[in-house]
Amino acid sequence: MVKLIAKKIEDITKSEIGDVDLIVADIPDCLDQKYPDYIDKMTKTEYEAKLHLWLSKMSTLTDGPIFLLFNERWTKEIEIAIDSACIPIIQRLLWRYNFGMDQSRHGRYSLCYRPVYWLQNPYIQIENIRIPSDRQTKYGDSRAASGGKIPPNVWHFPRICGSFKEKRSWFPNQINQKVIERIISGHSPENGTILDPFVGSGTSIFAAIATSRNVIGSDISNTCIEQIKKELSG
Ligand SMILES: C[S@@+](CC[C@H](N)C(=O)[O-])C[C@H]1O[C@@H](n2cnc3c(N)ncnc32)[C@H](O)[C@@H]1O
Repeated sequence: MVKLIAKKIEDITKSEIGDVDLIVADIPDCLDQKYPDYIDKMTKTEYEAKLHLWLSKMSTLTDGPIFLLFNERWTKEIEIAIDSACIPIIQRLLWRYNFGMDQSRHGRYSLCYRPVYWLQNPYIQIENIRIPSDRQTKYGDSRAASGGKIPPNVWHFPRICGSFKEKRSWFPNQINQKVIERIISGHSPENGTILDPFVGSGTSIFAAIATSRNVIGSDISNTCIEQIKKELSG
């Protein structure tokens, strides 16, 4: 089941989405990014208020895990918002990418990671996310666990650059589908339901289809929702 809703997260109701096993939320970064139908520009105070509102809302929409992806510059504000919404942090993870952003920023290191916070519920399906270990692949070590190892808390997947074939040209900051597939496989039951309330170019929709989950995607932008529908029907 794929359901798409053109709506702000603020307006989503529990009755229209039903039971949700996992929320994946790659939130806007409040850095003047131009999305279809939406400019991501707020004052710091407005953004802090939104963070609190969005987190509180998400915890009313599921009892399951919430995975929050955000820009590292807001780490302090995010942690304050998580705390004030009384949501437990299960683990802090990092998506480490190559092809980093802001390579030409003067006097600053370039950005090469996005924090991924695992919140609220410790549900995990370890068997779904094991990866081959160096012991297995490089060293032929007989002590290696045959099913692979649990991934470390830093995940290496490239950023989707403009020149990549999977890049949707109409959207500015599409996330790597492999990141979302790991979250979905590891933290929701087979045939469970995922909600992505900031669905953007639809990465979570395609990740949920690839991992055999039901998915609800919502976005403030009607253009995003229409573009995803077009890709699904084509
Ligand atoms: C960082 S992008 C998500 C990118 C997505 N993960 C992808 O791979 O394409 C954030 C999205 O949030 C949407 N957005 C901004 N404010 C919103 C709100 N209040 N409710 C729902 N969506 C919102 C923007 O239109 C944008 O598409």
